[in-house]
Amino acid sequence: MCGIVAVTGYKKALPLLINGLEKLEYRGYDSAGIAIINSEKNSISCNKAEGKLKNLKNNLKDENIPGTVGIGHTRWATHGKPEFKNAHPHIDGSGTIAVVQNGIIENFQDLKNKLEKEGIIFNSDTDTEVIPHLIKRELNTLSKLNLENNGSTLLVAVRNVISDLEGSYALAVLWADAPTSLVVARRQAPLIIGLGEGEFICASDTPAIANFTNIILPMEDEEIALLTPLGIEIYDINNERQYRNPVSLKVSEQIMDKMNFKHYMLKEIYDQPQTAKNWLENYLNQDLEKGKYQINYPFDTKFFESIERIEIIACGTSKHAAMVGSFLLEQFSGIPTNVFYASEFRYSPPPLLPNTLTIGVTQSGETADTIAAIDMEIKRRSSIEDKNFKPNLIAITNRKESSIGRMVSNIIDICAGIEVGVAATKTFFAQLLSFYGLAIKFAEIKGTQSIDEISNLITELIKLPPLIEDLLEQHNKSSEKLAHDFFNIKDVIFLGRGINYPIALEGALKLKEISYIHAAGYPAGEMKHGPIALLDKKVPVISIASPCEVFDKVISNAQEAKARDSYLIGIAPECNGTEIFDYLMKVPSSNEWISPLLNIIPLQLLSYHIAAHRGLDVDQPRNLAKSVTVE
Ligand code: F6R
Repeated sequence: MCGIVAVTGYKKALPLLINGLEKLEYRGYDSAGIAIINSEKNSISCNKAEGKLKNLKNNLKDENIPGTVGIGHTRWATHGKPEFKNAHPHIDGSGTIAVVQNGIIENFQDLKNKLEKEGIIFNSDTDTEVIPHLIKRELNTLSKLNLENNGSTLLVAVRNVISDLEGSYALAVLWADAPTSLVVARRQAPLIIGLGEGEFICASDTPAIANFTNIILPMEDEEIALLTPLGIEIYDINNERQYRNPVSLKVSEQIMDKMNFKHYMLKEIYDQPQTAKNWLENYLNQDLEKGKYQINYPFDTKFFESIERIEIIACGTSKHAAMVGSFLLEQFSGIPTNVFYASEFRYSPPPLLPNTLTIGVTQSGETADTIAAIDMEIKRRSSIEDKNFKPNLIAITNRKESSIGRMVSNIIDICAGIEVGVAATKTFFAQLLSFYGLAIKFAEIKGTQSIDEISNLITELIKLPPLIEDLLEQHNKSSEKLAHDFFNIKDVIFLGRGINYPIALEGALKLKEISYIHAAGYPAGEMKHGPIALLDKKVPVISIASPCEVFDKVISNAQEAKARDSYLIGIAPECNGTEIFDYLMKVPSSNEWISPLLNIIPLQLLSYHIAAHRGLDVDQPRNLAKSVTVE
């Protein structure tokens, strides 16, 4: 949700900033902009463009701004429409301060009102614009104390200003009077500093840094830093200088390569056999003596014994993975489990119950609602003395260095590698796998499944990589053909039951977010209680019909749709009953537990091909961003 990048050093800032922004565009693409301290003019050169980064690049193609210190931004609009005037960087009235920001300044209106009373003129509708004006005002005050015009003074000014800001932010600030310095700060929004050769580069996410260095210093919450070509000073909220060792980026945090695929999304769908292999390699250990497999999560699992119930907090696709997880944890492992939208949980949490495990699921590790909900749960549980109420936490994430990774010590790193396509695919698959691991672990500890049942499920998981490869091979062309017939439809209904109901929801979400076609998922048995009224020959129904206890009922529900003239697409193995489908997207016959991992593949491919056929920007769908770091 907005990407920021900032550099200082000895190399030209412009190409570094553009390169960084290219890697951050997945965070927002409503507008883009840069500001550089022009070393010839000793002033700030600022360039912005509405829309995608390519517009800014076009504007700048003949520019050669001299200067080695700069900031850049790619925007996902929150306050103020996606228009030129609202593009970052924002500049103060004197033109000497430039700021880029990712987050939301909740008290900006009060601050703006006060500044306007002082005669400050605003040029945008954004919350961010208050910041350069406030910094300038603060610098004017500091100048009366005879402080020098340098980075340290800018640091003091920014620190004083951020103490008045409410909400979350990651920001980077330039001051023309301190031409080699850069001040950056963060609260509940990510910021990482990369230590390059001849430059320091600070950004919202690792890909923007990885081209320059794989040595990074993640900034902690509420920290502020001064960067000059000579070094970095980091301070915490109490103004204590912080010293920490740099860490290396993993290879998977650096790679952003579309290979020969037309879109990242398709490439990431095709990554899934490897995602399965990675998970099996990382988390499945074979006891060579007993020949038995064990789930090997990287934390002490003793606390599993005392757990009596589970609450899972997530948003969007991660919530759908959590719903499959909840089904497994209840039906396979026998533990009462509830799944919550993070945005609901944080304002209306359920009453506290003892011996509860809280699981936060977020691929980015930065989703504001999920972070806030987990934070709230930690606080409200920690305030109770009874040790049965203490927080027991696990986070399932693709970014263990993210905010959630720093809040929660028990991390299941889904190890899916960077996902660039805004629509989550391989990370959903990897989140599902993480829940299979947890369900197996709990079933073993609680003794809710026989050893045979557990080892059957593990055997099915081991078989996944070639099965997924086959499914991709089989469905890529056929879903492209199907997309040709369906790319103009207006509504699609997805049906599933039991463990596959969340897969129906995920199929519908994938379709609507990248193709802008209205789609809704329902538990198949609910159709007749209302949604069936939507059906006619213009509304196709996609029914997930995995063999299970209620298979016949799923087929009857599909019949009911067919009787209303809907075109019926089945996601199922070929078997008795599936002949009712007008089109069958065949999946291999499998153990019911494992079926979501197979059924999701044709649904992802179908959504992808429909959106691609409509000529849409599959990787960067309108109005969306990859990590939603605002409420
Ligand atoms: C949909 C999608 C979103 C995210 C949601 C949560 O394809 O990607 O629905 O799943 O914004 O994001 P994370 O998992 O980063 O918390």
